[in-house]
Amino acid sequence: MSETKKPKLRSAEWFGTQDKNGFMYRSWMKNQGIPDHEFQGKPIIGICNTWSELTPCNAHFRQLAEHVKKGILEAGGFPVEFPVFSNGESNLRPTAMLTRNLASMDVEESIRGNPMDAVVLLVGCDKTTPALLMGAASVDLPTIVVSGGPMLNGKLNGKNIGSGTAVWQLHEQMKAGTITLHQFMSAESGMSRSAGTCNTMGTASTMACMAEALGTSLPHNAAIPAVDSRRYVLAHMSGIRIVEMVQEDLRLSKILTREAFENAIKVNAAIGGSTNAVIHLKAIAGRIGVPLELEDWTAIGKGTPTIVDLLPSGRYLMEEFYYAGGLPGAIRRLGEGNLLPHKHALTVNGKSLWQNCEEAPIYDDEVIRPLAKPLIEDGGICILRGNLAPRGAVLKPSAASPHLMKHRGKAVVFEDFDHYKSRILDPDLDVDADSILVMKNCGPKGYPGMAEVGNMGLPPKLLAQGITDMVRISDARMSGTAYGTVVLHVAPEAMAGGPLGIVQDGDFIALDCHNGSLNLDISDDEMASRLAARAGSQAPVAKSGYQKLYIDHVLQADEGCDFDFLLGSRGSAVPRHSH
Ligand code: FES
Repeated sequence: MSETKKPKLRSAEWFGTQDKNGFMYRSWMKNQGIPDHEFQGKPIIGICNTWSELTPCNAHFRQLAEHVKKGILEAGGFPVEFPVFSNGESNLRPTAMLTRNLASMDVEESIRGNPMDAVVLLVGCDKTTPALLMGAASVDLPTIVVSGGPMLNGKLNGKNIGSGTAVWQLHEQMKAGTITLHQFMSAESGMSRSAGTCNTMGTASTMACMAEALGTSLPHNAAIPAVDSRRYVLAHMSGIRIVEMVQEDLRLSKILTREAFENAIKVNAAIGGSTNAVIHLKAIAGRIGVPLELEDWTAIGKGTPTIVDLLPSGRYLMEEFYYAGGLPGAIRRLGEGNLLPHKHALTVNGKSLWQNCEEAPIYDDEVIRPLAKPLIEDGGICILRGNLAPRGAVLKPSAASPHLMKHRGKAVVFEDFDHYKSRILDPDLDVDADSILVMKNCGPKGYPGMAEVGNMGLPPKLLAQGITDMVRISDARMSGTAYGTVVLHVAPEAMAGGPLGIVQDGDFIALDCHNGSLNLDISDDEMASRLAARAGSQAPVAKSGYQKLYIDHVLQADEGCDFDFLLGSRGSAVPRHSH
């Protein structure tokens, strides 16, 4: 590109003047040992880092950032690394989801308020990917995602075990008495044996795949293991590319189009991705002004085969996915079967998604299966509606039991998560394999933060009988590493006055995933009278602090759980401050 076509650098508003303001902006930066020439027209590239030792999945990010910097320097840019709130899934209470929006606000204001021309987002653990994309979308600078990559395969007794999924499986086996506590505990070290994110197709891997399918990262970003040297090559190349993106003025809004989201929904079905993607994609779309509805998941995703054979739906792990060809291989399969809706969608490397994937090699048909031999014929996310979920609910068919996809059963009701924990162990609990477990008050406002508790463990007495799955319904979310016939994200939630709040023990509920319905078998009059009796009786959990702000402003699951006041892009303009 010729000099005359170069866009004016945004950072010049800080560093480009030879006056009192320019002096002050530069002078304080110079205390880091930065020479004069660095301020003379180089694109300034932010590296937005979610490194934290309390977010173990992102704990290798200082090293990752160094490789991004090498690429930026090589391309003639000026890298500036900055920290943002890091919400790790494994440690943060009550749930990392409570702080996704908080982190996105930190990201948005950090990018907009500081002198940078573009930004590299270092993401990994579940909520860090959507939070950083949401914040960056609201500013809309040239942006590129670099994920931290998955952990190596977990190991137990010489066999592979998957992050999270192994915990649910082994815990149920221990409760059923088929393994000992010692065997359970010995899995602890072997499951997480390298840097990186969960190695199953949980939410972190799903969102890394979504970032790549949306076109916001370089090809193969999703699956290269965290400790593979090629992860650092990708970070380096992303550093080079982001400098070029400044010259091309390739902003996030040119990448995050409606077409990109439609591609991502299709890819989510093909990979057997997490239900959490429904909420996060809606929230990201909401920031960039792209309309996306629950029904899009049915219209676009339905009929798409799941071809990536990864836990928790299938057999393998992210390490094998990369060796088999990674996401470009899976996208190639979709495209060859005319299942990629928008091949021309632009990605951050300036090529279309299809140009990046059409010749991608596929090395293992067991991991990236041919379309004619899918893991699940009809993957994707099942969207449910009915009098129990007027604004929708979701279920992941690939993680569910086929015989329960159409089921009518008697409700066993838990008023909240504590009630569930105290009641589920009761040997006299009136429950059998046909019952439906219902949990209330675990939605965005109710928990608050909509924790991943929707995959309620089964009653021990049924586990002991060899029962491994039951229909479960709640307004909660579920870990992407979990499985079962679990209806999630019921909206409106119980705390917001939704019908879930009026379900009683012994009520019959009818679930039909084939026609997308979820109904409570009571008359309209009974429904109206129970709702009227309950109106106004729900007390919010927090009366002050951030949790109060969250409860007051969080939108329901069908709207992406963003804050009402954060929707939309506010751009990168910032009032000029005169010292
Ligand atoms: Fe961080 Fe799973 S706990 S990716």
